[in-house]
Amino acid sequence: MKIVENIDLAPYNSFGVSVKAARYAEVTSAEDAAELFARPEVTEQGWMALGDGCNVLFTGDYPGTIVRIANREITVENEDSEGAVVRVGGGVEWDDLVEWCVSHELWGVENLSLIPGTVGACPVQNIGAYGAEAADTIREVEIWDTAEGCRRVLKAAECKFGYRESVFKHEWKGRALVLAVRFEFGKTANPRLDYGDVRARVEALGGATLRNIRTAVVEIRRAKLPDHKVVGNAGSFFKNPVVEDSVAERIKAEWPDAPTYPTPHEGMTKLAAGWLIDKCGWKGRSLGRAGVHDRQALVLVNRGGATAEEVITLAQTIRRDVAAKFGVEIDPEVNII
Ligand code: EPU
Repeated sequence: MKIVENIDLAPYNSFGVSVKAARYAEVTSAEDAAELFARPEVTEQGWMALGDGCNVLFTGDYPGTIVRIANREITVENEDSEGAVVRVGGGVEWDDLVEWCVSHELWGVENLSLIPGTVGACPVQNIGAYGAEAADTIREVEIWDTAEGCRRVLKAAECKFGYRESVFKHEWKGRALVLAVRFEFGKTANPRLDYGDVRARVEALGGATLRNIRTAVVEIRRAKLPDHKVVGNAGSFFKNPVVEDSVAERIKAEWPDAPTYPTPHEGMTKLAAGWLIDKCGWKGRSLGRAGVHDRQALVLVNRGGATAEEVITLAQTIRRDVAAKFGVEIDPEVNII
């Protein structure tokens, strides 16, 4: 197991913020996890799991241990004419898994193409895009339970997945280290084309094959979202707010073009935070060295050398403006550490 002391985290977070962590460990197996969490300095000074650091904003040096999962195995455990159960190590790049599924003709994650990050991080915030989410295909999550010092398997129902939500952000936060995820992918075509211009792009490419859906989603994302390797960012900075229907109706009455989405919760409607921020005039603007992406207002970017404070000041200003104009609170989707 690789352990390094006093490490600069700039290469390990997509905002490119330069802070130090007291310790950094790469864990490949449950045995490694057992060894790591037997060390008093790790349990006493705190730890956090980090995938590719694509959804995190560090606001200062981290005094504990950053733990990364290095298991990059994809194993087909069960396969029949209907589908396949596949165990995927937490260190596999998410988009590599999507490509693997598409090239093996397995359905379920194609709409989640090009989402940055690792498989180990996908259940934590239940990544989602273009009408699909990780929870659609997750069967079980294998974790190291740092409180009990043992490996556990949580069934999907126990993970309580919701919109950018799971138990890993709540009751298991700071306790579970995701080692691997077991997915169930289908072999029957199940194209989901109803979000935005996915259908039009897929049809332009020649029809709803897995490959065409992946290509269409990649094209849409590339057109709207900045590449964090070029411009520091952590994807959507805020969650889309879920409000009472009456609030959505009030906004629609004044701004009929406001996008609204139904939710599984009776009486509640989801609004598009990007649209709200855009309407406040923030798209493309900057405050210090932090800015709002010019093609998607939900994404805050590091225009070069921005500190975490600059990003947070920008986020607070945007939040205040959205509340003043629309009477709606927007909350960060990014983990602020
Ligand atoms: N919109 C604007 N102006 C903007 C941005 C958006 O008017 O600057 C409008 C769009 O025209 C559209 C609506 O707002 O009518 C929604 O925009 P979009 O389809 O781009 O999606 P989003 O709701 O802003 C969510 C996810 C994204 C995901 C897309 C596609 C969240 C927090 N974000 O964004 O996820 O890629 O849907 O499914 O739910 C991420 O989580 O990091 C992420 C990028």
